Amino acid sequence: MQVFKIERLGHQGDGIAPGPVFAPMTLPDEEVSGSLDGDRLADIRVLTPSPERVSPPCRHFKSCGGCQLQHASDALVAEWKVEMVKQALDAHGLSTHFRPIITSPAQSRRRAVFSARRNRKSALAGFHARASNQVIATPNCKLVDRALLAGLRVSERLAELCASRRNELNVTVTLSDGGLDVSAAGGPDADRSKLVEMAGLAERFDLARLTWNNEIIVTRRPPIHSFAGIEIVPPPSAFLQATKEGETALRDAVQEVVSGAKSIIDLFAGCGTFALPLAAQARVHAVEASHDMVQTLNKGWRNGNDLRQVTSETRDLFRNPVRADELSYLDACVIDPPRAGARAQVHELARASIARIAYVSCNPRTFARDAAALIDAGYELDWVQVVDQFRWSTHVELASSFTLTSA
Ligand SMILES: C[S@@+](CC[C@H](N)C(=O)[O-])C[C@H]1O[C@@H](n2cnc3c(N)ncnc32)[C@H](O)[C@@H]1O
Repeated sequence: MQVFKIERLGHQGDGIAPGPVFAPMTLPDEEVSGSLDGDRLADIRVLTPSPERVSPPCRHFKSCGGCQLQHASDALVAEWKVEMVKQALDAHGLSTHFRPIITSPAQSRRRAVFSARRNRKSALAGFHARASNQVIATPNCKLVDRALLAGLRVSERLAELCASRRNELNVTVTLSDGGLDVSAAGGPDADRSKLVEMAGLAERFDLARLTWNNEIIVTRRPPIHSFAGIEIVPPPSAFLQATKEGETALRDAVQEVVSGAKSIIDLFAGCGTFALPLAAQARVHAVEASHDMVQTLNKGWRNGNDLRQVTSETRDLFRNPVRADELSYLDACVIDPPRAGARAQVHELARASIARIAYVSCNPRTFARDAAALIDAGYELDWVQVVDQFRWSTHVELASSFTLTSA
């Protein structure tokens, strides 16, 4: 057994001692012992616990791979997440004002992807075990909304009914205003009798909607979501912000950045999380790669009250970014790309001279890269608001404000 002093937390949430040696579930300043397996420490004993060490609130934490940071105080996790963004910016020689982090409460995740496996006698649903492909049951998960936990039983019954023993089911369960919206993928095609049984299962569990391999089996009630009072019905498994609190925090930040603008473009618009509420104040053009999500957004706008004009476009913004000349008539831009960021689109934005840009990101590294390109083009990064809607995980989400100071 060797003794190590943990110096910092790495990007995956592991404690890191000089070497580097990676020690899962340890914290900075802790002395730990363990046996080295390559650059990872195994059989870890914490000899001097950090004052920031807390009892994990969830009893699945030790075995479940869903959360990485339940052994750390909220204050430490908050500081670490903000630090991740500061470091990413610093790598490009950038810094800015950071607003206090906004963290979603426990049991507020309204969407989860459960894994389900059929075994010889029955089935099991939950999350993957830590660093493993094995599915473990997580009936007392403290991360997801309590109502979502019923989705575990639905996932197990679906696996029993239709999954092969070779393949795992991925079951996306979303809590909508109409109840649970369940979409399972990874199973074999279902014949007619299985479809009838699935419809019965939706009835028994009072689901709003059930989808199997992208085919809607039954919609018993529309799985409605409300974006600041504007109702939409998303396609199965569509992107939504992970918690209502996170969505509100991001929307408030975005609205602040673009307030006063009369014409706004929303890039990577999804089902209209930002575009639809912004239409209460401005004309909005929404651009998104998924045709189904664009249709959802359009329908939400048609059913909304007192909204200005919303136009939309299905477009791949990686291959075919909105060009600078198409952007130049706009007052403000909202951009919320996936983890890869928006290199090509930011290249066009940098040449377009839009006064205000609200950039929402789920990846500090690509955000910092894109921020550097905007700053080179004459923008100032006014502030960053870190929003933690992936509590206890290593995910970091943020909203930010850019203002054009020189063209
Ligand atoms: C982080 S989500 C944000 C969605 C929306 N702004 C929201 O808050 O609900 C990113 C969105 O980008 C879309 N997307 C992914 N790749 C894209 C691409 N190449 N071009 C355009 N949209 C893309 C996804 O479908 C998804 O809706």
